[in-house]
Amino acid sequence: MKLLVLTGSPHSNGTTALLADEFCYGAMEAGHEVIRFDTAKLKINPCLGCDHCRKNEGKCVHEYDDMIEIILHLLTADAVALVSPLYYFGMTAQLKRVIDRFYSINSLLREKPKKLYMIAAGADTDKWAMDAIKAHYKCLCSYFRWQEGGTLLAYGLGSRQNAENSEYKIMAKNFGKEI
Ligand SMILES: Cc1cc2nc3c(=O)[nH]c(=O)nc-3n(C[C@H](O)[C@H](O)[C@H](O)COP(=O)(O)O)c2cc1C
Repeated sequence: MKLLVLTGSPHSNGTTALLADEFCYGAMEAGHEVIRFDTAKLKINPCLGCDHCRKNEGKCVHEYDDMIEIILHLLTADAVALVSPLYYFGMTAQLKRVIDRFYSINSLLREKPKKLYMIAAGADTDKWAMDAIKAHYKCLCSYFRWQEGGTLLAYGLGSRQNAENSEYKIMAKNFGKEI
């Protein structure tokens, strides 16, 4: 299976980078092809809602930024994993701007079955802290008609060190193995 991993943290060696690494190791060990983009490091312009793509056969007005690379893999991936730290109870803006750019290929994405996974981590330990991001994940699955592969929601992880010392590190690897 071809798995596209999209991470959203600006920290190259942070909490979610660790969980993403483990998840990818697990998936690769299980024999999957893994393509990963750390989206915060890429030049990806936000969707302008200009509908240029709708009038130009899916061609975005931001034709020459890094999104084209992601789109090429997105179209052929069997599964997509979104990995983000919690920023005000949702995904980071860096990752959200990538999702918004799916708009130019909306119909193609809705036609091809895929599985969607999500890993989110935040400092909070309140049970409700992940409610919004989980609801967003479910809405994306419903809208794209993609199968819910599952979520790993990691509470109480304010830093990479917290993650290193937690059970979530092992859970992330197992999550990758089981996709
Ligand atoms: C702007 C900002 C907003 C945040 N909002 C939340 C939040 O709503 N809930 C939470 O549990 N943690 C929140 N955090 C904490 C991060 O999710 C947490 O530190 C995480 O481990 C960072 O992961 P990273 O190192 O992969 O970026 C926030 C951090 C920042 C910088």
